[in-house]
Amino acid sequence: MPSTFGAVHLAHEFLEAQVQEGDICIDCTAGRGKDTAFLCGLVGESGRVVALDIQQEAVESTKALIAEKGYEDIAEVYLDSHENVDKYAVAGTVAAIVFNFGWLPGGDHTKHTQTQSSLTALEKCLKLLKPDGVMSLSIYYGRDTGFEEKDAILDYISKLPVGEFAVVVSEFVNRPNCPPISVRIYRTNL
Ligand SMILES: C[S@@+](CC[C@H](N)C(=O)[O-])C[C@H]1O[C@@H](n2cnc3c(N)ncnc32)[C@H](O)[C@@H]1O
Repeated sequence: MPSTFGAVHLAHEFLEAQVQEGDICIDCTAGRGKDTAFLCGLVGESGRVVALDIQQEAVESTKALIAEKGYEDIAEVYLDSHENVDKYAVAGTVAAIVFNFGWLPGGDHTKHTQTQSSLTALEKCLKLLKPDGVMSLSIYYGRDTGFEEKDAILDYISKLPVGEFAVVVSEFVNRPNCPPISVRIYRTNL
């Protein structure tokens, strides 16, 4: 295992085990497009991946990566907040939804995800999941940002109805300096 093994690996392992060719997936925090591209590879040409970000720089980065990988017919990249995620898919149809909370890698640290819009988006996303759908959350926090958001998200997901969702939280407990927290949510009311 590489020493860089981290939240991205955990998320991708999880998604790889859950997502099938032809599925619909959503990347709620497109950033540089790495998760969007990964999802495109999993769903293939018969699938669909919607990617959202509020920063033009992120949308352009994601579109460039998608073009480089030849995934233009699979991915749709929108400059929009994940609060509006329900505009892009029908309830009960989405196989996997990804969030990476935090700021754009290599971008402006002051433009990070915000507690209230993150909670609104999460609530909407739970309704978009198909009966055996999943959500992957990677919660990045540290320095002077993200603590309130992390606490609010962990509080929210810990109260999801036990008959409808299974929620698993993983932490790198031997790493210093606020390592990211990985969350897996499975919709279980089949
Ligand atoms: C940690 S980065 C995502 C990294 C990305 N998964 C990648 O592979 O590069 C978080 C992203 O969330 C975006 N973001 C912040 N608030 C948002 C919102 N309300 N809706 C959608 N994206 C948002 C930021 O602009 C930033 O690009």
